[in-house]
Amino acid sequence: MQPQVKLLQLFDWDSLHEKARLREELATGLLQPQASIAPKFFYDALGSRLFEAITELPEYYPTRTEAAIFSEHLPAIGEALGTDFTLIDLGCGSCVKAGRLFHAGLLPARYVAVDISVDFLRDSLHKLKRELPAIDMTGLGLDFTDELQLPAELPPQKRMFFYPGSSIGNFSPPEACTFLKRLAGQMDATGGLLIGVDLIKDKAVLDAAYDDPLGVTAAFNRNLLRHVNARLDADFAIGDWQHLAFFNEADARIEMHLVARRELDVSWPDGAGRGSRHFAAGERIHTENSYKYSPAGFRTLLSAAGFTDIRMWTDPRAWFGLFFARQAATRT
Ligand code: AVI
Repeated sequence: MQPQVKLLQLFDWDSLHEKARLREELATGLLQPQASIAPKFFYDALGSRLFEAITELPEYYPTRTEAAIFSEHLPAIGEALGTDFTLIDLGCGSCVKAGRLFHAGLLPARYVAVDISVDFLRDSLHKLKRELPAIDMTGLGLDFTDELQLPAELPPQKRMFFYPGSSIGNFSPPEACTFLKRLAGQMDATGGLLIGVDLIKDKAVLDAAYDDPLGVTAAFNRNLLRHVNARLDADFAIGDWQHLAFFNEADARIEMHLVARRELDVSWPDGAGRGSRHFAAGERIHTENSYKYSPAGFRTLLSAAGFTDIRMWTDPRAWFGLFFARQAATRT
């Protein structure tokens, strides 16, 4: 018999309410002078797999650099987390990062895996539970960037939020601060945050990490249009759009765009009819920002968000930072 995990699905791409909300969000983004589509549309089941493939690319250094920091500093990380804690894994994907911690002996009392890609989450969590049946595991299928509703039965003490992979970089710094404040508000002073952050480095290294010669990142970017077509009945012709990614040094962020290869029109359902937009050849849809930080800049952000006792571990090239911080004071 399969070991049991609890799975709470709070986000459902296909519910009528969610579909209407997502269509409205899509139309709003596409009708801006600088068109945009939210990065959450990257992560259908195929997009999650394409992201896994990105992490294997020689050019995409963050995942393996972060993994090396974990191996190198495991005892100190274990000491920071303590014992009998709940690990809340935000954007768990394949759950391999948490799995590695558990297999290395950093065992939580409870594991809560959160991801918007619900099917992927279910498969990943079942696999992990088969490997580690003694850990109490819950899956939460939700868009935690909107709102983070934790199960009511979760003890308020020793909540350790785990946010690896530099996903925090996909928020703008003010949005990141708001998000981190929300996390601080969901724990008491016995709780903490273990978070991976990509650091500012040479532009050539960053450009290559987001525009690999195999074209995996290009496929990941273009898959967002396939996902939007499938979920929301838009009519993007995928082949008409080209991947563009570069490090914007002034704003310390990677920008990803899709560029129209020719003049074209795109439409999507809008009430009883269809909304549409005309794109000139070369016009772009902005799909993602990935902000990079200096160690001091990220410390400042953590303090502003209500965290204290900040520690950082890094790799020999100082390309990536793994931060641990505690909640600054008990909130009432
Ligand atoms: C998920 N996130 C941290 C990745 C990043 O590096 O910003 C998403 C990604 N986009 C392109 N490659 C990877």
